[in-house]
Amino acid sequence: MTATKSPNVFDLMSLKGKVAVVTGGARGLGYEMMLALAEAGADVACIDILGDTAVVSAQVVAAECKVKSSGWECDVADEEQVASVFQKIVEHHGQIDVLVTAAGINKNGKAFEFTGKDVRKIFDVNVTGTFFCMQQAAKHMIDAGRGGSIVTVASLAAHVFNNPQIHAPYNASKAAVLQLSRCLACEWGPHNIRVTTISPGYFATEMTNKLIGEMGMSVEDTVKTWKSEAPLGRVGTPHELKGTVVFLASEASAFCTGTEILVDGGATVW
Ligand SMILES: NC(=O)c1ccc[n+]([C@@H]2O[C@H](COP(=O)([O-])OP(=O)(O)OC[C@H]3O[C@@H](n4cnc5c(N)ncnc54)[C@H](O)[C@@H]3O)[C@@H](O)[C@H]2O)c1
Repeated sequence: MTATKSPNVFDLMSLKGKVAVVTGGARGLGYEMMLALAEAGADVACIDILGDTAVVSAQVVAAECKVKSSGWECDVADEEQVASVFQKIVEHHGQIDVLVTAAGINKNGKAFEFTGKDVRKIFDVNVTGTFFCMQQAAKHMIDAGRGGSIVTVASLAAHVFNNPQIHAPYNASKAAVLQLSRCLACEWGPHNIRVTTISPGYFATEMTNKLIGEMGMSVEDTVKTWKSEAPLGRVGTPHELKGTVVFLASEASAFCTGTEILVDGGATVW
């Protein structure tokens, strides 16, 4: 027994009084994670290239969770737009305590089918865009002197080849996100900024629907393969990221940095 009282675990998970920025929060996994952060009490700012959808998604979350929210149109690959939108978010919300970087793109295809433009676009959004947002969030966190939590979104594709789809540039970009996160965890640890990563397995979203379309396979056959690739024998539903993102964003994970959590039904185990 220690002399100091142990904090209650639900208090540790609470994000009341915090402001969380979510990139790619307009839809899909980003939206679901933004909703989770708001349910845990955070005010939220949604950044997305789909500006109108970002505004609507932020409004829906605010109405459901009774928190302050805002939606912002921004291409995360554009350095100036990112700097400007983070400045506006700080002016609007007063602070930034949490960043979740879910904005990302993918393209299916064999290596010889990719043009330089295709490859650069994937790296511009997934890696450079993630980096720009991390840079801006950390800058504001350091200025405020209160630390913070940055949660990046990589993928099981950072570790393994995907089956049956083929998209080497995406996989390499997600491995880069993972290493970027580990490096910045080391660089910003002294500022009490924690950097962690969520790596989802297969989840049904607009991104995966588009991918299946590009592959020319049936949804049934693709999903059957994905199910067979995981010990849990199914694909994920977006709400299955909610607990992980709140854990990593909150004080419940205060001694975790440079950590990755795979939420993949065990798909990378074998
Ligand atoms: N769905 C999966 O199975 C899966 C698996 C592993 C990792 N991921 C990752 O999770 C994240 C979310 O994926 P999703 O499946 O919800 O996809 P999605 O396409 O539904 O959502 C991605 C969001 O990012 C936004 N976005 C794209 N380019 C942008 C840009 N340049 N600037 C700002 N916003 C931009 C989109 O408008 C969209 O709202 C991505 O980073 C993806 O790589 C998804």
